[in-house]
Amino acid sequence: MSTQLTCSLDHAHYRLEELVVAHHARHSLTHGIAARIGEGISTEDHRSTYDIADLYGEGFDPRLTAGDLAVHHNEGLPPPDIRAEQQRIERADALVLVYPVYWWSMPALLKGWIDRVFSNGWAFEFRPDAPLIKKLGHLPIHLLGVGGADPGTYSRHGYAAAMRTHIDHGIFNYCGAKVITSELMLESETAKLLESHLYEGSQTLGESMHYGVSVTDSCLGWGDTEALLTRAATALARAKPLMKVG
Ligand SMILES: Cc1cc2nc3c(=O)[nH]c(=O)nc-3n(C[C@H](O)[C@H](O)[C@H](O)COP(=O)(O)O)c2cc1C
Repeated sequence: MSTQLTCSLDHAHYRLEELVVAHHARHSLTHGIAARIGEGISTEDHRSTYDIADLYGEGFDPRLTAGDLAVHHNEGLPPPDIRAEQQRIERADALVLVYPVYWWSMPALLKGWIDRVFSNGWAFEFRPDAPLIKKLGHLPIHLLGVGGADPGTYSRHGYAAAMRTHIDHGIFNYCGAKVITSELMLESETAKLLESHLYEGSQTLGESMHYGVSVTDSCLGWGDTEALLTRAATALARAKPLMKVG
């Protein structure tokens, strides 16, 4: 996977996008991707802008507190740090989450952010004696997970589907928020030499995306990659005797 990324979301209607990044290292691929998404937002439409919420850099505490639990039970108001996070989302026209996949889900830092910020009374209203009210129907969501495993592993074990059930449906649909983009950028640790996807070319992140096409640099299709790998293997096999020492 290349680090020269030009990512953009279909943000034509958004004035301000809140980019939430959940990674401890500023120089990580995850932060790099978030930065490129930000660049895409501001260069494609000068009226659009973005704010990056670097959860680790800002020292967000993902541990649920007694005060948070009181909010959940309709017995208290959100603490100031949580209210600040909610206000940040209230100012935005769309929410973008960029995170590495840890154990086939989001990192604990981001899960804790959801646990605490998407609270009862703000993201939804739940009372045992009343129907659930979904309160985030106005908030478009874009999800981008960066994973080390390959697409075959994700589909063979149903991990991609499980993540969609858990995150897209279980969290955002519960609050009424529409998930516009839900993408996994895979093989983040291995696919560094030959950039190849199922289909040639590239696409920008948005509503109508095509399976198997790169969302970063323009890439070779699988057919060309396979032919190149075969040629490289043949060349290497011929070269081997020359490399023998002693
Ligand atoms: C604790 C931990 C758990 C991980 N679990 C998964 C996993 O379940 N699936 C996967 O595809 N990659 C997994 N990975 C690999 C990360 O997704 C990968 O390191 C990351 O995408 C690389 O991006 P970065 O350079 O921004 O960290 C895991 C990595 C760590 C550190």
